[in-house]
Amino acid sequence: MDILEFIKSRRSIRKFLNKPIEKDHITKILEAARWAPSAGNCQPWQFLVVTNKKKTNKFDPFFHQPWVLNAPAVIVVLAAPDDTRKRYGHDSTYFVQDCAAATQNILLMAHGLGLGAVWVGAFSKEAVRDLLDIPSKYEICNLVCLGHYKADDEVILDGERISNKDKRGRKSLGKIAFEESLENPWTAG
Ligand SMILES: Cc1cc2nc3c(=O)[nH]c(=O)nc-3n(C[C@H](O)[C@H](O)[C@H](O)COP(=O)(O)O)c2cc1C
Repeated sequence: MDILEFIKSRRSIRKFLNKPIEKDHITKILEAARWAPSAGNCQPWQFLVVTNKKKTNKFDPFFHQPWVLNAPAVIVVLAAPDDTRKRYGHDSTYFVQDCAAATQNILLMAHGLGLGAVWVGAFSKEAVRDLLDIPSKYEICNLVCLGHYKADDEVILDGERISNKDKRGRKSLGKIAFEESLENPWTAG
Protein backbone atom coordinates (compact mmCIF):
# COMPACT_ATOMS: atom_id res chain seq x y z
CA MET A 1 0.00 0.00 0.00
CA ASP A 2 1.11 3.53 -0.71
CA ILE A 3 2.57 4.99 2.50
CA LEU A 4 0.18 7.96 2.56
CA GLU A 5 -2.82 5.66 2.09
CA PHE A 6 -1.46 3.45 4.88
CA ILE A 7 -1.14 6.41 7.27
CA LYS A 8 -4.60 7.68 6.30
CA SER A 9 -6.21 4.29 6.81
CA ARG A 10 -5.11 4.01 10.46
CA ARG A 11 -7.67 5.03 13.02
CA SER A 12 -8.06 4.77 16.76
CA ILE A 13 -9.70 1.48 17.71
CA ARG A 14 -11.53 1.45 21.01
CA LYS A 15 -13.41 -1.83 21.02
CA PHE A 16 -11.41 -5.04 21.07
CA LEU A 17 -12.14 -8.73 20.81
CA ASN A 18 -11.49 -10.83 23.87
CA LYS A 19 -8.53 -12.53 22.20
CA PRO A 20 -4.88 -12.36 23.23
CA ILE A 21 -2.30 -10.80 20.95
CA GLU A 22 0.43 -13.09 19.65
CA LYS A 23 3.71 -12.40 21.42
CA ASP A 24 5.67 -12.03 18.18
CA HIS A 25 3.26 -9.28 17.15
CA ILE A 26 3.93 -7.40 20.36
CA THR A 27 7.66 -7.87 19.80
CA LYS A 28 7.35 -6.33 16.32
CA ILE A 29 5.41 -3.41 17.77
CA LEU A 30 8.13 -2.83 20.37
CA GLU A 31 10.77 -3.05 17.63
CA ALA A 32 8.94 -0.32 15.72
CA ALA A 33 8.87 1.80 18.87
CA ARG A 34 12.61 1.52 19.44
CA TRP A 35 13.39 2.61 15.88
CA ALA A 36 11.68 5.95 16.38
CA PRO A 37 13.88 9.02 16.09
CA SER A 38 14.99 10.70 19.32
CA ALA A 39 16.92 13.88 20.12
CA GLY A 40 20.64 13.06 20.08
CA ASN A 41 19.59 9.41 19.70
CA CYS A 42 19.20 9.37 23.51
CA GLN A 43 16.28 6.88 23.26
CA PRO A 44 14.86 8.04 26.60
CA TRP A 45 12.04 5.50 26.71
CA GLN A 46 10.91 2.29 28.35
CA PHE A 47 7.91 0.23 27.28
CA LEU A 48 6.00 -1.86 29.78
CA VAL A 49 3.55 -4.36 28.31
CA VAL A 50 0.69 -5.32 30.61
CA THR A 51 -1.78 -8.08 29.76
CA ASN A 52 -2.98 -8.87 33.28
CA LYS A 53 -6.55 -7.58 33.36
CA LYS A 54 -6.54 -7.39 37.13
CA LYS A 55 -3.97 -4.63 36.69
CA THR A 56 -5.27 -2.89 33.56
CA ASN A 57 -8.76 -2.79 35.07
CA LYS A 58 -7.39 -0.39 37.64
CA PHE A 59 -5.58 2.00 35.27
CA ASP A 60 -8.70 4.10 34.78
CA PRO A 61 -10.34 4.04 38.21
CA PHE A 62 -13.21 6.28 37.12
CA PHE A 63 -14.02 3.99 34.16
CA HIS A 64 -14.38 6.80 31.66
CA GLN A 65 -12.61 4.79 29.02
CA PRO A 66 -13.81 1.19 28.81
CA TRP A 67 -11.22 0.43 26.10
CA VAL A 68 -8.53 0.58 28.77
CA LEU A 69 -10.43 -2.22 30.49
CA ASN A 70 -11.27 -4.33 27.45
CA ALA A 71 -7.87 -4.18 25.70
CA PRO A 72 -6.04 -7.53 25.77
CA ALA A 73 -2.73 -5.67 26.03
CA VAL A 74 -1.73 -2.20 27.15
CA ILE A 75 1.69 -0.70 26.53
CA VAL A 76 2.70 1.84 29.15
CA VAL A 77 5.08 4.33 27.54
CA LEU A 78 7.57 5.66 30.06
CA ALA A 79 10.12 8.44 29.61
CA ALA A 80 13.51 8.48 31.27
CA PRO A 81 14.10 12.26 31.44
CA ASP A 82 17.62 11.81 32.85
CA ASP A 83 18.70 10.14 29.60
CA THR A 84 17.84 13.37 27.79
CA ARG A 85 18.99 15.78 30.48
CA LYS A 86 22.47 14.27 30.81
CA ARG A 87 23.02 15.48 27.30
CA TYR A 88 20.85 18.57 26.94
CA GLY A 89 20.63 19.99 30.46
CA HIS A 90 18.09 19.99 33.21
CA ASP A 91 15.38 21.93 31.41
CA SER A 92 15.27 19.79 28.31
CA THR A 93 11.92 18.22 27.47
CA TYR A 94 13.01 16.44 24.29
CA PHE A 95 11.99 13.16 25.93
CA VAL A 96 8.35 14.15 25.50
CA GLN A 97 8.74 14.46 21.74
CA ASP A 98 10.81 11.28 21.58
CA CYS A 99 8.17 9.23 23.39
CA ALA A 100 5.44 10.69 21.18
CA ALA A 101 7.40 9.61 18.09
CA ALA A 102 7.77 6.11 19.56
CA THR A 103 4.05 6.00 20.30
CA GLN A 104 3.18 6.91 16.73
CA ASN A 105 5.44 4.08 15.53
CA ILE A 106 3.54 1.72 17.85
CA LEU A 107 0.22 2.79 16.31
CA LEU A 108 1.49 2.39 12.77
CA MET A 109 3.08 -1.01 13.40
CA ALA A 110 -0.10 -2.27 15.06
CA HIS A 111 -2.05 -1.07 12.04
CA GLY A 112 0.39 -2.81 9.71
CA LEU A 113 -0.18 -6.06 11.59
CA GLY A 114 -3.95 -5.69 11.29
CA LEU A 115 -4.33 -4.93 14.99
CA GLY A 116 -6.26 -2.06 16.52
CA ALA A 117 -4.73 0.50 18.85
CA VAL A 118 -5.58 3.71 20.60
CA TRP A 119 -3.27 6.24 22.25
CA VAL A 120 -4.60 7.08 25.70
CA GLY A 121 -3.48 10.19 27.55
CA ALA A 122 -6.29 10.40 30.11
CA PHE A 123 -5.87 7.84 32.88
CA SER A 124 -4.66 7.72 36.45
CA LYS A 125 -0.87 8.01 36.39
CA GLU A 126 -0.84 7.55 40.17
CA ALA A 127 -2.75 4.26 39.87
CA VAL A 128 -0.43 3.00 37.12
CA ARG A 129 2.69 4.01 39.07
CA ASP A 130 1.49 2.24 42.22
CA LEU A 131 0.16 -0.88 40.53
CA LEU A 132 3.27 -1.43 38.44
CA ASP A 133 5.84 -0.15 40.95
CA ILE A 134 7.23 2.37 38.51
CA PRO A 135 10.21 4.21 40.01
CA SER A 136 10.06 8.01 40.22
CA LYS A 137 12.95 8.36 37.74
CA TYR A 138 10.46 7.47 34.99
CA GLU A 139 7.75 9.78 33.77
CA ILE A 140 4.55 8.04 32.73
CA CYS A 141 3.72 9.44 29.28
CA ASN A 142 0.76 7.55 27.89
CA LEU A 143 -0.86 4.19 27.33
CA VAL A 144 -1.48 2.38 24.08
CA CYS A 145 -4.39 -0.08 24.17
CA LEU A 146 -3.94 -2.90 21.68
CA GLY A 147 -6.08 -5.73 20.40
CA HIS A 148 -7.81 -7.59 17.64
CA TYR A 149 -11.05 -5.95 16.56
CA LYS A 150 -14.12 -6.09 14.39
CA ALA A 151 -14.46 -3.16 12.04
CA ASP A 152 -18.19 -2.92 12.71
CA ASP A 153 -17.91 -2.46 16.46
CA GLU A 154 -18.42 0.94 17.98
CA VAL A 155 -18.21 2.78 21.28
CA ILE A 156 -19.61 5.96 22.75
CA LEU A 157 -17.01 8.64 23.48
CA ASP A 158 -18.20 11.86 25.15
CA GLY A 159 -21.70 11.17 23.85
CA GLU A 160 -20.42 10.65 20.29
CA ARG A 161 -20.88 7.25 18.62
CA ILE A 162 -17.49 6.22 17.23
CA SER A 163 -17.21 3.23 14.96
CA ASN A 164 -14.01 1.27 14.53
CA LYS A 165 -14.32 1.73 10.79
CA ASP A 166 -15.08 5.45 10.50
CA LYS A 167 -12.29 7.89 9.84
CA ARG A 168 -12.25 10.96 12.05
CA GLY A 169 -11.85 14.07 9.95
CA ARG A 170 -8.88 16.35 9.67
CA LYS A 171 -8.48 20.09 9.15
CA SER A 172 -7.78 20.90 5.51
CA LEU A 173 -4.19 21.47 4.44
CA GLY A 174 -5.02 25.05 3.48
CA LYS A 175 -5.89 25.78 7.12
CA ILE A 176 -2.79 24.29 8.74
CA ALA A 177 0.06 24.52 6.21
CA PHE A 178 1.70 27.59 4.72
CA GLU A 179 4.28 28.53 2.16
CA GLU A 180 7.08 30.90 3.20
CA SER A 181 4.80 32.95 5.48
CA LEU A 182 1.76 32.35 7.66
CA GLU A 183 -0.04 34.74 5.29
CA ASN A 184 0.14 32.22 2.45
CA PRO A 185 -1.90 29.03 2.88
CA TRP A 186 -0.37 26.00 1.21
CA THR A 187 -1.86 25.18 -2.17
CA ALA A 188 -1.67 21.64 -3.48
CA GLY A 189 0.89 21.23 -6.26
C1 LIG B 1 -1.76 12.91 23.09
C2 LIG B 1 -3.00 12.09 22.76
C3 LIG B 1 -3.84 11.71 23.79
C4 LIG B 1 -4.98 10.94 23.50
N1 LIG B 1 -5.75 10.52 24.54
C5 LIG B 1 -6.82 9.75 24.28
C6 LIG B 1 -7.59 9.24 25.35
O1 LIG B 1 -7.31 9.47 26.53
N2 LIG B 1 -8.65 8.45 25.04
C7 LIG B 1 -8.98 8.13 23.74
O2 LIG B 1 -9.95 7.40 23.55
N3 LIG B 1 -8.27 8.61 22.69
C8 LIG B 1 -7.20 9.40 22.94
N4 LIG B 1 -6.42 9.84 21.89
C9 LIG B 1 -6.78 9.46 20.50
C10 LIG B 1 -7.44 10.63 19.76
O3 LIG B 1 -8.73 10.85 20.27
C11 LIG B 1 -7.50 10.30 18.24
O4 LIG B 1 -6.19 10.09 17.77
C12 LIG B 1 -8.14 11.44 17.45
O5 LIG B 1 -9.49 11.60 17.80
C13 LIG B 1 -8.07 11.20 15.92
O6 LIG B 1 -8.70 9.97 15.61
P1 LIG B 1 -7.91 8.80 14.85
O7 LIG B 1 -6.75 8.38 15.72
O8 LIG B 1 -8.92 7.71 14.67
O9 LIG B 1 -7.44 9.37 13.54
C14 LIG B 1 -5.29 10.58 22.15
C15 LIG B 1 -4.42 10.96 21.12
C16 LIG B 1 -3.27 11.68 21.43
C17 LIG B 1 -2.30 12.03 20.30
